[in-house]
Formats: sequence, C-alpha cells, structure tokens
Amino acid sequence: MAVSAGRETVAVLGVGRVGTAIARALVDAGYRVLIAASGDPEKLAAITRIVVPGAEPRWAREAIAEAEIVVLSLPLHRVVGLDPAPLAGKVVIDGMNYWPPVDGVIPMFEDAPDGTSAIVQSLLTGAKVVKTFNHTGYHDLEPDRRPAGHPDRRALAVAGDDPAAVKVASGLVDRVGYDAVPSIVSATASPSSRAAACSVPGCRHPNSARTSRRRR
Ligand SMILES: NC(=O)c1ccc[n+]([C@@H]2O[C@H](COP(=O)([O-])OP(=O)(O)OC[C@H]3O[C@@H](n4cnc5c(N)ncnc54)[C@H](OP(=O)(O)O)[C@@H]3O)[C@@H](O)[C@H]2O)c1
Repeated sequence: MAVSAGRETVAVLGVGRVGTAIARALVDAGYRVLIAASGDPEKLAAITRIVVPGAEPRWAREAIAEAEIVVLSLPLHRVVGLDPAPLAGKVVIDGMNYWPPVDGVIPMFEDAPDGTSAIVQSLLTGAKVVKTFNHTGYHDLEPDRRPAGHPDRRALAVAGDDPAAVKVASGLVDRVGYDAVPSIVSATASPSSRAAACSVPGCRHPNSARTSRRRR
C-alpha cells in the first residue's frame, strides 16, 4: 500500500484550473499529493512551488504507481490516451465533464445514455471509477470548503458502482470539506455523470458558467 509516513497518497492527473484547486485542497486536508500533467515533471517545478506548494510533481505513470487514489482532472478527450493497466485496482476519481468547445464533438461522449463516466470506466478496465468534483467550479472548490457540521457546508454527489470505492472517495470528499452524498449505481449502469451532476440541489454545469452558490 502506497502510504508515506502514514499519509495516504493521492495522484492528481491534470494540473490546470481544476487539478490545481483539487491538489491544493488535498494538501490542506493532509494528503500526500503527487501531481502530473502530460509531460516532464520538471516543467511543473515552478507551478508546483508557486501554485500548489506541498505537492510533488511526477511523471504520470510514477504518480499513479505511488498513489492509492487517482484524481482525473484532464480534458475528457485526453482520457482515451491513458494506459488503463497502471490504473487497474485503483480508486479513480473522475472529475471530468464532456465539454465540446474544449473536447470537440466526440460521438461516444455525445451518445452516452449512462453518462460519460460509464465510458471512462469502460476505457479504464480494472479501475474503480467514481464520479465526483465534476459539478463544482474550480473557483468555488476551495472557498466553499467547510468543516463537518458547519451549517453552510455544501454536499457533493459521489457516484460509482463499487461500494468500497465510493466509500473511499466519500471519505476524501468529506476530508476536503464537503458532505458526501454517495450513490451506488448498478454494475450494468455505470457511474453516471448526470447522476453526479444533477443530484445536488442548485448545481449547474460548472464549465458553462459560475457554479451556483448554496441556495439559502
Ligand atoms: N473548469 C472548471 O471549473 C471545471 C469544473 C468541473 C470539471 N471540469 C472538468 O475538469 C477537466 C479539466 O478542466 P480544466 O479546466 O482544469 O482544464 P485545463 O485547465 O485545460 O487543464 C488540463 C490539464 O490536463 C493536463 N493533461 C492533458 N492531458 C493529460 C494526460 N494525458 N495526463 C495528465 N495530464 C494531462 C494538461 O497538461 P498539459 O499542458 O501537459 O497537456 C493540463 O494540466 C475537464 O474535463 C473539465 O470538463 C472543469
């Protein structure tokens, strides 16, 4: 088990708007955080020091190998190029959305009746894919965190077909600063983006506009 000095290790693949916000929140929550983009980690040295202090840059394959939990925060169309083998057996948090202005029009994601995570799961054979974080905007993710029991604490849906993986991802969501709303979907209807995107009152597609704040 990839635990360093008693800390769980989380790999964050994708160090853009969402990835840096998630990585900072994970560092704050006490996780050991490895970050990786599509290339050489040396290119991430400056951004890590300035934007995600406390995280450690890695090649993606190294980050995955060292982590128990992997967060995918890369453009959805790039997931097609990921090698599923190193992710097999890992809890993989899918924070991605299909967004044609960025991804282009991709028929397999356009026609995804069970949501895009079902496709991600089918591409990443052996990984335990859980959908969450996709329905909050990168700019809200850190300021909206609250301690457990706080009256203004927001909830995030956590959807997947592996109950143990959903439990692990829910624990991470809680530790970061949100109530987790676990949703176990059947193995035949894999984790649904739509379920994760729409089961929290007041949420909108985070890529299209500023995500709505809590409704008071
Ligand atoms: N923006 C939001 O508020 C928001 C909210 C919820 C969900 N999302 C979803 O989150 C995902 C990321 O969005 P974003 O706005 O953060 O994108 P972004 O700012 O464009 O960042 C994308 C990151 O992914 C990296 N990347 C690309 N291919 C990779 C690979 N094969 N392995 C590892 N890293 C790779 C890029 O690194 P390179 O430069 O090396 O390619 C870059 O660091 C999208 O699916 C989006 O729909 C976004």
